[in-house]
Amino acid sequence: MASVLRCMDCKQTYPIDRRMVTCPVCNGLLDVEHDLDALRGQVSHELFDQRLGSWQPLDRSGVWRYRELVASHVPDGAQVTRGEGNTTLYTASPRLADYAGVAKLQLKHEGENPTGSFKDRGMTTGVTQARLLGARSVICASTGNTSASMASYAAMAGLQALVFFPVGYVALGKVAQSVAYGAISVQVEGDFDDTLALVREAADELPVYLLNSINPFRLEGQKTIMIEMLHQRGWSVPDWIVVPGGNLGNSSIFGKALHELHTLGLIDRLPRLAIIQAEGAAPLYQSYVEGWETRHSVRAETIATAIRIGNPANFPKAHRALDWTNGVVTTVSDQAIMDAKAQIDAAGIGCEPASAASVAGVRRLVDEGIIAPDDDVVGVLTGHLLKDPDAVMHYHADTLDNITATFANRMLTIRPSLAEVAALLPV
Ligand code: F0G
Repeated sequence: MASVLRCMDCKQTYPIDRRMVTCPVCNGLLDVEHDLDALRGQVSHELFDQRLGSWQPLDRSGVWRYRELVASHVPDGAQVTRGEGNTTLYTASPRLADYAGVAKLQLKHEGENPTGSFKDRGMTTGVTQARLLGARSVICASTGNTSASMASYAAMAGLQALVFFPVGYVALGKVAQSVAYGAISVQVEGDFDDTLALVREAADELPVYLLNSINPFRLEGQKTIMIEMLHQRGWSVPDWIVVPGGNLGNSSIFGKALHELHTLGLIDRLPRLAIIQAEGAAPLYQSYVEGWETRHSVRAETIATAIRIGNPANFPKAHRALDWTNGVVTTVSDQAIMDAKAQIDAAGIGCEPASAASVAGVRRLVDEGIIAPDDDVVGVLTGHLLKDPDAVMHYHADTLDNITATFANRMLTIRPSLAEVAALLPV
């Protein structure tokens, strides 16, 4: 059986090549449903290992290497790929692991993708699907990374990109990318949630294909963050996967990825998922602590602009992911995010503020006794340090409102004198 689209609410199925983003009957979120029974005979650890030794562009991509599990309906040659994925799984230095409070911490750095965030894994599949469907233009609302990535992949595919940002809350590096890659780049007088609502309406009414993370083909690509990480670990499953939660695309698809890998026998147990939200943007956390009585939404505020989202579109899928993985949700303050970021940066790894929520979240969960100090933990760093240079410079100059530069590395100015240089050397 070929893959189909299935509504997670009313369960209705649709052909994979039907142009739709949500269920036309009930407006529920769609999943790409693979025929796992058929896949069982087709995929294996050995197949993926073999592809690691190949220069073939599809095998080289850290998304398309796992193509049977991601988008088996796409004919070879139709993929719009930049060789995305293949990101480093760092083992944190003893100092960084100690800061987080665990003995074994690994960090999967999705900022090492071509446009500097995990979005490239979703755009290679999303833009490929847009082209298969015959779309001429693609649209998204974005806190900056989705737009940068979509702009790049649309340019590669010869499609027009239209990107919409909440005015004033997008980091400089990200806006610059969209403009540079030739997207029609528009600021909306509203926050991300207003902007996403506008763009969803536009995609319903106008001939343009939506590539936000409610698009199920995007999420299938992002599934490979988990697959590639487990492949890098020789399929040894950690105790915890820790991920920042904004629009909750990653959280949702990590659950689906782990569930499928387990069903296929590619992993022998499930890790637990921990979703970390910024304190000022934590609607999932509010619902989680209340036992899911209501679906909360908030007016979001956080220095981590990437996750400044109050009404996450993938909320029900994230809830399902937590059920599948016996997962937890917690929050971290902006102060904790920026201090964790300073530690990740100073370890030589570096990331943007939202990414650091993962390490701040590990620290919080260890404090709360939920993660044990000897647990094996993998955190996901979602974006590159250079995405948000303003946050770095203001932190280290100690000029951020309501945040203290606990680990400041002040810029110095000297006269051109050897004696002044000599005075800088460690004794
Ligand atoms: N980290 C970074 C760096 C992000 O850019 C985003 C989302 C997230 C975390 C949250 O991921 O939505 O899957 O929970 N950025 C989107 C954007 C919203 O428009 O670039 P999520």
